[in-house]
Order: sequence, then structure tokens, then C-alpha cells
Amino acid sequence: MRQRFDFNGRKVLLTGATRGIGRELVNRLAARGAQVLAIARDPAAVAQLVAENPAVLDGMAADLGETGAVQAVADWVKDRHPDTSVVINNAAIMHRGALTDAAQDYLEAISMEIAVNLRAPLALSVALLPVLRRQSSAAIVNVTSGLAIAPRPDAAVYCATKAGLRSFTRALRDQCRHAGYPIQVTEVVMTLVDTGLTAPVATRKYPADRAAADLIRGVEAGLEEVWVEKAKALRVVHRLSPKLAYRIMRAR
Ligand SMILES: NC(=O)c1ccc[n+]([C@@H]2O[C@H](COP(=O)([O-])OP(=O)(O)OC[C@H]3O[C@@H](n4cnc5c(N)ncnc54)[C@H](OP(=O)(O)O)[C@@H]3O)[C@@H](O)[C@H]2O)c1
Repeated sequence: MRQRFDFNGRKVLLTGATRGIGRELVNRLAARGAQVLAIARDPAAVAQLVAENPAVLDGMAADLGETGAVQAVADWVKDRHPDTSVVINNAAIMHRGALTDAAQDYLEAISMEIAVNLRAPLALSVALLPVLRRQSSAAIVNVTSGLAIAPRPDAAVYCATKAGLRSFTRALRDQCRHAGYPIQVTEVVMTLVDTGLTAPVATRKYPADRAAADLIRGVEAGLEEVWVEKAKALRVVHRLSPKLAYRIMRAR
């Protein structure tokens, strides 16, 4: 039977807390009585979030694409917040473009996108297992995308990182279960949401506050996978006809 998960009184490490869905998650977590440990790249934005929002207990500016950043965040949590019981891996970046454009040197951008979107959530989840397993109950929440199921050609690397994170989340869940760790491992399959990440996209987008609310409710319900808004339909279509799902996402 699924266990309900209560955010009240918990310390939650949230990456990408300063903008978009992460910023809305801060509000939702505050309303649930949780305390947020905020991570983002921009030091001024992190400092402002901590100063202005009483629910944001502490913050750390870290570029999760840089070597050593994940270890620094994990050490900070272990030293200053060893009672942290939730990690939400939300920060990500997306580069758009045609990799077939030989005039462009994409290698630097590819490495950074993989580091932020895939290496960082993998490494942070693993580095914080010793902290999380000591709590009476805990959660790791990894934010993926419908693009993990069906990629769009102009964001090839982003889609690959999200598919990788989806696969990792599933395997980590099994490992935690096998080890008897009291850690709920949840994947949140996001729909298209109205944030800075999707600014170039003109189609109708789901509001970020509703996306954040769906994430919180799904984790509270003890779900292993939370399919947000249109991602639910994509899941069904993909089951019936992967080809159709790919065609839909290509056309977006
Ligand atoms: N928006 C969508 O339609 C959509 C759809 C599917 C999935 N998602 C997923 O939802 C999550 C949130 O996306 P969003 O749309 O809210 O993005 P967003 O509005 O662009 O916000 C991204 C957040 O991540 C932080 N961040 C970016 N690069 C970072 C780095 N190298 N190190 C540390 N922090 C970094 C940013 O902080 P700085 O400003 O300091 O860089 C910001 O707080 C992501 O995992 C994304 O893949 C979004």
C-alpha cells in the first residue's frame, strides 16, 4: 500500500529554486510548513530568496554544471543541515539547435547540458543517500519531462538527459527498496510549462504554479511517477502507439 508523504516540518533541498517551477515550489512548500534549502546559480537571486521568504531557511549559490559543485552542495547539507529529508532535483537547462549545423561547435554546450541535467541530479541523489537514509522517512524527487518519452529534434541533448534521468530514477528506486532505505523515489514527468525555459515556444503552456502544485500533491500521495497535465495523455498515447507519440512531440 502507498504511504502518504507529509512535507510539514521537513527540510527540503531544492535545486533551481529561484525561477520558474522551482520558485513556485518554494511557495507550495512554505504553505505545507516545510523549510527550503535553495540552490541556484545566481548568488544575488539566492540571497534575495533567502532574505525575502521566511520559509527559505538557507541557500547556496552553485553552478551544478561545474566540477565539484555537487560535492560542495552535499558537504554543505551534511555539515549544516544533516536533518534534510527531501531532495528535489529540479534545476535544468535546455539548448535548442540543429546538431547537423557543422559551423557550430556544440561540444562545450553538450557537456554543460549533460552535467546540469543528468550528472548533477544523479550525483546529488547518491551523495545525499547517507543523510536521507538516517531520517525516519525521506524522498528524492527528480523532475523529468514528456520529452524523456518522445524527443523533439531541436532539443536532442536535453531529451537524452531527461530520458537518462528517468531510467536512473527507476533503478535508484529499486536499489533503495532493496536496501530497505525509507526513501520514496519519485519521478515527475513535466508537461510544457510557462517558464523562462520555454520562452521561445508559443504554444499554450501550463502555469508554473499549477505544475508545482501537481508535483507536491503527487509526492504527498506517495506516487512513484507523477504525470503532469498533458504528460498524462502522452503516456497513454505512447503506450498505444510510440510512433504517434513521437509525431505529436516532433510537431510541438
Ligand atoms: N518549463 C517546461 O515546459 C518544462 C517541461 C518539462 C520539464 N521541465 C523541467 O522542469 C524543471 C524546471 O524547469 P523550469 O522551466 O522551471 O526552468 P527555468 O524557469 O529555466 O528555471 C531554472 C532554474 O534552474 C536553475 N539553474 C539553471 N542552471 C543551473 C545550474 N547550472 N546550476 C544551478 N542552478 C541552475 C536556475 O537558476 P539560475 O537563474 O541561477 O541559473 C533556475 O532557478 C527542469 O528540470 C526542466 O527540465 C520544464
